[in-house]
Amino acid sequence: MWSNLPLLPEQASTVAADVDALFIFLVLVSAFFTALIFGLVLYFATKYRRRSAHEQPAPIHGDLRLELLWIVVPLGLTMVMFAWGAKLYVTMSRPPADAMEIYAVGKQWMWKFQHPNGQQEINQLHVPMGRPVKLTMASEDVIHDFFVPAFRVKMDVVPGRYTTTWFEATKTGAFHIFCAEFCGTMHAGMIGKVVVMPPTDYEHWLSGGGTGESLATIGRRLYEKLGCKTCHDPDAGRALGPALKGIFGHKEQLASGERVSVDATYLRESILQPQAKIVAGYAPIMPTFQGRVSEEELLQIIAYIRSLGKG
Ligand code: CUA
Repeated sequence: MWSNLPLLPEQASTVAADVDALFIFLVLVSAFFTALIFGLVLYFATKYRRRSAHEQPAPIHGDLRLELLWIVVPLGLTMVMFAWGAKLYVTMSRPPADAMEIYAVGKQWMWKFQHPNGQQEINQLHVPMGRPVKLTMASEDVIHDFFVPAFRVKMDVVPGRYTTTWFEATKTGAFHIFCAEFCGTMHAGMIGKVVVMPPTDYEHWLSGGGTGESLATIGRRLYEKLGCKTCHDPDAGRALGPALKGIFGHKEQLASGERVSVDATYLRESILQPQAKIVAGYAPIMPTFQGRVSEEELLQIIAYIRSLGKG
């Protein structure tokens, strides 16, 4: 109902209408109290103005009903805002389990996307309509922010870690991508578009491009090229590092006594800072790969490790 207001962008995702409803509610509450306060200031200033130079106002010693009113009403309203906002936040920060995964890398000044089948794109992201899409995002340099106004989706892309967001497009068409974090001289040019297609067209598009190699296959080549195999493949070498088969999604016991779950963030850290979390039973001998692999390649290696199965 609000989508025809020129003030708001088109609603093209499952959460867009909810985000707008909350936003409109906040605006209306603020507008109501702004009007009420300004109105009362004017009204009281007139009504209780000093009428003669010697006029003394009657002393007032408070009013319990009035005090309760201005405690209870704002409390109730802010609790509604809190509960409503928290519910929406939780929805938006938890991708549905069946979401398809796409990887994004932000760098000065472009967006790069990788699909699980190995298809890559720059400043364009093709997705199917009506399917939840989870984005795992990394930055090659500084902080960027992935923002698609029509989806009401906005998430920082931070160097040194993965952030995730998700959306489910409800309309086909092209929707603008902005970078919403000032990231250098060409920040304003760090734009692109999400192209939402009917699922069958998307399948067609997916099969039409790329090298025919999945992300996991590309990752395996890197894994072999970088020599990871020597230590991490019990069949090939000396098993100086933990075997990687089936570890994704598993809990790993660390030498420090801690237990961590093996996810993309943990794997990325273990490749770049191998000494940070040593698995129990292994020596801290792995060299760092910092500077030797790009964020895109890290995502490919992780896709490969993931393809080895969940424990
Ligand atoms: Cu990237 Cu602003």
